[in-house]
Amino acid sequence: MTSKIAEPIGVFPYSSYRFLPLEELAERVRAARAKLRPGLVILAHNYQRDEIIQFADVQGDSYQLSRHAAEDPECRMIIFCGVHFMAETADILANRPACVERRGGRAPVILPDLEAGCSLADMASLPQVEECWNQLASLLGEEEIVPVTYINSTADIKAFCGRHDGIVCTSANARAVLDWALTRRRHVLFLPDQHLGRNIGLRMGISMEEMPLWNPSLPLGGHEPNTLRKARIILWKGHCCVHQAFKPEHIDAFRRKFPDIHVVVHPECPLEVVEKADYIGSTSQIIKMVRESLPGTRWAIGTEVHLVNRLKQELPDREIYFLAPRISMCATMFRINLPRLCWAIENLAAGCPVNVIEVAPETAELANRALERMLAVR
Ligand code: 13P
Ligand code: SF4
Repeated sequence: MTSKIAEPIGVFPYSSYRFLPLEELAERVRAARAKLRPGLVILAHNYQRDEIIQFADVQGDSYQLSRHAAEDPECRMIIFCGVHFMAETADILANRPACVERRGGRAPVILPDLEAGCSLADMASLPQVEECWNQLASLLGEEEIVPVTYINSTADIKAFCGRHDGIVCTSANARAVLDWALTRRRHVLFLPDQHLGRNIGLRMGISMEEMPLWNPSLPLGGHEPNTLRKARIILWKGHCCVHQAFKPEHIDAFRRKFPDIHVVVHPECPLEVVEKADYIGSTSQIIKMVRESLPGTRWAIGTEVHLVNRLKQELPDREIYFLAPRISMCATMFRINLPRLCWAIENLAAGCPVNVIEVAPETAELANRALERMLAVR
């Protein structure tokens, strides 16, 4: 367990919010927010529901939200509408010792639903990663490997990277971070999303043979020593279930129907999908690209459905499609709803914060090293 979680009791129980009408909840969130201004910042990931996005002080991808948590001098408390690893990251960055001293205290980071996790982050546990590291270190030499973790990982994996001169990346800066890592050492251990590592590695000119997939259930990840000696990026066997829903045949079908369509996908999609797409990007890069496109253009988008539906509504003069024939949504992001937000903000306004995510100090200190290295890469 890397974060201490306050008991979700509060002065107002969640059960009294569950069935309230949305208009009443929205009104109450507005009133509590006005009371907590200017110290409260509501951060919301691009996959959140519209009923949440309307209250976001900052909406963005993981990179933008982390940067905001690290840099906002006015921030005294954060409600994070996203998933657990994002709230942990915000806690680490907003509560660095220098920030706590300047502010005169910690900024509580609240995740409105503690069940809002990320199955990709859960695919790399610290004992598994340590076992992998020990095997790689004795084969290749510890000083020859940089651990790089996608931000979609637990705080203790980020701390592991911090301890071993490693770094964090997001979908927005993975290429720059991998460049940083590979100019320092011969090998990268890339955690936990194989697809992001592989998609970016190939764009950097690294071959498939130089990117073996590490299976944590097998000795040496399932490889011969020589395969690992030749590796540049060793990919952890993790993936995002939401992005597995997109298939190359979905792109083929759209192109048959609309030869002029633009296809943009998130780099968590499998390689066969990325190879057929026109563009890849973080969630905010996708939004920017479609917003900046010409009226009348057609787009098929391979990422979470709430983002795509919001773009459709915002840009009626463009033809926007969800890439898969069936809806693929992030069920954990979806757990954050208006009753949850209202419950969290009213308890905060009553001086009794609920669902506070607090990373243990020694984990936070190490994880922060890896995050600060990332924030310094441009
Ligand atoms: P972004 O950083 O691109 O918003 O991605 C976060 C995420 O969880 C995508 O599944
Ligand atoms: Fe995690 Fe995938 Fe949900 Fe993103 S979309 S938060 S990677 S489960």
